Amino acid sequence: MALQTPIFLNNLTKTCWRNFQGDQLNKQLFFAVRSLHKSVTSEALGVSATEEEAMSNRLIKPSEVSDKTKIKTLKEMPGPNTISNLIEFFWKDGFSRIHEIQLEHTQKYGKIFKTRFGPQLVVSIADRDMVAHVLRAEGVTPQRGNMDSWKEYRELRGRSTGLISAEGEQWLKMRSVLRQLIMRPRDVAVFSDDVNQVVDDLIKRVCTLRTQQPDGATVVNINDLFFKYAMEGVAAILYECRLGCLETVVPKNTQDYIAALNLMFSSFKTTMYAGAIPKWLRTLIPKPWEEFCQSWDGLFKFSIVHVDKRLSEINAQLQRGEEVKGGLLTHMLVTREMSTEEIYANVTEMLLAGVDTTSFTLSWACYLLARHPHIQQQIYTEIVKNLKPGAVPTADDVPNLPLIRGLVKETLSRFFPVLPGNGRVTQDDLVVGGYLIPKGTQLALCHYSTSLEEENFADALDFQPDRWIRKDTTDRVDNFGSIPFGYGIRSCIGRRIAELEMHLALTRLIQKFHIRLSPLTPDIKAKTHGLLCPGAPIHLQFVDRELDALSSS
Ligand code: HEM
Repeated sequence: MALQTPIFLNNLTKTCWRNFQGDQLNKQLFFAVRSLHKSVTSEALGVSATEEEAMSNRLIKPSEVSDKTKIKTLKEMPGPNTISNLIEFFWKDGFSRIHEIQLEHTQKYGKIFKTRFGPQLVVSIADRDMVAHVLRAEGVTPQRGNMDSWKEYRELRGRSTGLISAEGEQWLKMRSVLRQLIMRPRDVAVFSDDVNQVVDDLIKRVCTLRTQQPDGATVVNINDLFFKYAMEGVAAILYECRLGCLETVVPKNTQDYIAALNLMFSSFKTTMYAGAIPKWLRTLIPKPWEEFCQSWDGLFKFSIVHVDKRLSEINAQLQRGEEVKGGLLTHMLVTREMSTEEIYANVTEMLLAGVDTTSFTLSWACYLLARHPHIQQQIYTEIVKNLKPGAVPTADDVPNLPLIRGLVKETLSRFFPVLPGNGRVTQDDLVVGGYLIPKGTQLALCHYSTSLEEENFADALDFQPDRWIRKDTTDRVDNFGSIPFGYGIRSCIGRRIAELEMHLALTRLIQKFHIRLSPLTPDIKAKTHGLLCPGAPIHLQFVDRELDALSSS
């Protein structure tokens, strides 16, 4: 998924800074804007105001770049030449190794380098402090990247943009509505019971699937199962209904949706070109654009069916004079802060963003657990200590399970950030790493590289979920070393939903099973296919802890 926010704040901040010394009005404005920015920072990173204050000291201030002669231009920036880049990507299938190329290029060209993809110039940044500088300088409506093909499809079909594809004022309006509903852990805690029902079905499905294998323990290609879990979980929250993904026979319309989603991802490369191929060439090479439109048709159709169904139920309830109660979708449909088209677009884009990301992270987390049995045992011990035997964990229990949170962070923030990089389009001229980056430049923020760097994380290659446990209030791992959910006002809106789904599922799985590698599972390398996914299927054994304890006693 190519996730693609604004710069007004940046301009405003700078203008305010320039006039800061003399003008009282601007002084107030500067602080108002900075405090808005700060609250967003704290929200996204979960850091205290004091910690954030410390971070803000690292911002590059205009005075620091006053010696204009020292500022270098993009021409002076190192990077692979266009030919070698084309060979790398098209000849050596670089698209499936984007994360590795990120590391290779960082080693070869340094922490800031440029790459050309045809007419598109991308400046890659693989340094914690430079990334922090760029993100902290962003405005109120940051932009992630070019979303023209997404917008073109929506215009063609008369559909609205959603949070991922929208920009400017329209994005800000929708973001303001949604961020009040799902951005804080306590907002999503109310979905605990819904998610737990899905976890019940996940556990049942594990038990069914393993009986189908000769050893009675193995679940083949665990990502298939987690894909269904993530889709069922996110749909339970977004659509307020169950889809039946974890049933033995998956309902036809859900199968159609999965087919549309698969088309979107399986044709990842071609759909990327859908936007890149000029319109006049589409008659000669029609397939990419046709597949792109076809998969979006399928995704929208599925959402519209579910939103309309809930809308009819609400109308019927209102006609009967009944009180309307419900979750996220009900709230959006009743309050009407967004139009129906905007609701369609947002649930469509959120479902798209929320399924593979969560399922791949769960697959990687279980793979790492299976490879590190002693760490799995530590986490199990923590669960047993904090939950009564057989108790079903809820969102309220998660703060008492720091190793479960550490497991997700260590998996996602360090080893397998499912989005190995993020994008921003500069909305003002910016000096980063000594280079002047003009307004409108596409930046690639390379957190796959920074998350594996020793200077950001001690013993970077060791799997240590406990590194994320704070020893005291002053102790924190620097979050800009790895920002798997992005940063700031345009960060992932579904973060808390994803975390809830992952924390509850992983706690229950570890509570019930020993998770072990099947002998059929080789050493799995990551490959990029839009997201950082397993390069081969992960087969895992799920052995009941109780049975295991009995047989060894
Ligand atoms: C492990 C799971 C997930 C990961 C790693 C992830 C990661 C990300 C990242 C890196 C971004 C870009 C942030 C930025 O540019 O600063 C993003 C944006 C977004 N994500 Fe997620 N995401 C996950 C799950 C979800 C879920 C479950 C949903 C919905 C329920 C969701 C919905 C979105 C949306 C709508 C955006 C665009 C936000 C905007 O532009 O305002 N994501 N996500």
